[in-house]
Amino acid sequence: MSWEPIDVAAEQPYQVLIGSGVSTLLPQFLEGVERVAIIHPPSLASALPAITSGLDQQVTAIRVPEAEAGKTAEVLEGCWEALAGAGFTRSDAVLGLGGGATTDLAGFVAATWLRGVKYIALPTSLLAMVDAAVGGKTGINLSAGKNLVGAFHEPFTVLGDLDFLETLPPSELRSGLAEVLKCGFIADPAILDEFEADADGALEVGNPVQAKLIRRAVAVKAAVVSADLRERTSSGADIGREALNYGHTLAHAIERREHFQWRHGEAVAVGMVFAAELAHRLDLIDADLVARHRSVLKRVGLPTSYRSGASWIDLRKAMSLDKKSRGSSLRFVLLEGLARPAIQQNPAEGVLADAFLGLNES
Ligand code: GLY
Repeated sequence: MSWEPIDVAAEQPYQVLIGSGVSTLLPQFLEGVERVAIIHPPSLASALPAITSGLDQQVTAIRVPEAEAGKTAEVLEGCWEALAGAGFTRSDAVLGLGGGATTDLAGFVAATWLRGVKYIALPTSLLAMVDAAVGGKTGINLSAGKNLVGAFHEPFTVLGDLDFLETLPPSELRSGLAEVLKCGFIADPAILDEFEADADGALEVGNPVQAKLIRRAVAVKAAVVSADLRERTSSGADIGREALNYGHTLAHAIERREHFQWRHGEAVAVGMVFAAELAHRLDLIDADLVARHRSVLKRVGLPTSYRSGASWIDLRKAMSLDKKSRGSSLRFVLLEGLARPAIQQNPAEGVLADAFLGLNES
């Protein structure tokens, strides 16, 4: 079987492979490696025999708590101790097998062990395949906020095995699809066209339409991070990695106000509709493009309004605290047309509040 690689050409060029069974290629990326640590949550312990069966290396499985509970300094220290116990050297490798939280942690373990060792990502959630595992952002959370400690450490390769999506809870799949559609709005409208042409196929795990959309979204992410790995400060339409934050300014505020009980993609879906309403009020996009946001996100089953939660005043305060806001300015990625993202700073307060009303009107 062959899988067409997607190139990432940042500081250390590497390839992302997406497809059913692609994790069987792992041995070819471990040439010259003596020891391999596989950082994984308990729910993926049953996948280890298949992942390790073709490996000649000495394998250390490091079990970490599920999801964000694993992204702590304490868990990180436990991983370092495990590597020390197994005698890991500079020529050994760390693998991250799991969703975005696990790949963020595993990447940071690899970034920090002996100042950086080979890292291979095996994302198992859609969100991790199309976003977290690609692009070299690694890190952990503090009680003061998410991802406050981290490093850029590019993977040696990313193996996105679509077979893992078979067991993904539907809500997790929907959350990942929000990021896929985001890539359609900011860079590749063919994602939206193909989704609209066969939404049933796009929503079905194992369907070639879904696989194609995932590949297209990864290609968007790969192109963006190739051009701007370290997320320089963008200005207006001269925008780099910050474009990936489309919908995220409000989304981060919602996640914080909802005590991280909302799935990331759900918050991003609401945030994108808000961004579209805001862009429309600033005469940047027409009403049809706003409606297109609602229609594709609703078709996935994602929320497109935010009625029951925090008030606008609370959300507005939470947005000011967002770590993505640089200095004291409030930054939004807004569209100036389909696939034309640009940074808008400090929109007038009245327009922001009105866009929030618009978000909840339909
Ligand atoms: N998830 C946004 C980024 O990778 O920059």
